[in-house]
Amino acid sequence: MKRSEINTIMAEADAFARRHQFYLPPFAYWSPDEWHAKGPEAREIVEHDLGWDITDFGLGDYHKLGLFMFTIRNGTPENLKLGRGKVYAEKLLIVDVDQVTPFHFHWTKVEDIINRGGGKLMLHLYNSMPEGGLADTDITVSMDGVVHHLPAGAIVTLSPGESITLPTGLYHKFWGAEGRVLVGEVSTVNDDHTDNRFLEPVGRFPTIEEDEPPLYLLMGDYSRFYGKS
Ligand SMILES: [Fe+2]
Repeated sequence: MKRSEINTIMAEADAFARRHQFYLPPFAYWSPDEWHAKGPEAREIVEHDLGWDITDFGLGDYHKLGLFMFTIRNGTPENLKLGRGKVYAEKLLIVDVDQVTPFHFHWTKVEDIINRGGGKLMLHLYNSMPEGGLADTDITVSMDGVVHHLPAGAIVTLSPGESITLPTGLYHKFWGAEGRVLVGEVSTVNDDHTDNRFLEPVGRFPTIEEDEPPLYLLMGDYSRFYGKS
């Protein structure tokens, strides 16, 4: 992705979230120069992978196959293993009409996906086979405290206010309908380096062409701009 495209997506996402009265934390707006000046007090942001996370899954067509994320809080795999400290995570996602996040499941993370406003969020669901394929077995999911038994390949619609709990091993693919969707994700600790199993191999992080300076840093930029870790 070009840096200029990422900068535009950041500015639009920030404006969209604000229109829904959803505000990002202060570190979202630190400039590259401010990052240079930060010391060890900001280490949690870097070490827990907080912040801006925009991906085209390495395929070069963000509007068709892409996802905007901002990790607001996150613990560490160590927290989760010990059952102590920050064992939870929260993200903001923004999903456009027909903008697909491809089929994947999580080995460890249990996530609630919440429609917080805007259009509708569509989720396509399958259980996974032990060898990693899509299973043809019925699915059981909890949606806002109510259990649902669905056939394999069911498509669930979340309207604003509605949510679904995605257990480990449940394949999910999602996209927006009728309008851009402000999506919340509340989960156990998030580890994007080891916990995602995509059905078709994709890249989790984009390759970036630096055609202008960053507006704000992506989490993948910290190693380059933050020297105090
Ligand atoms: Fe997921």
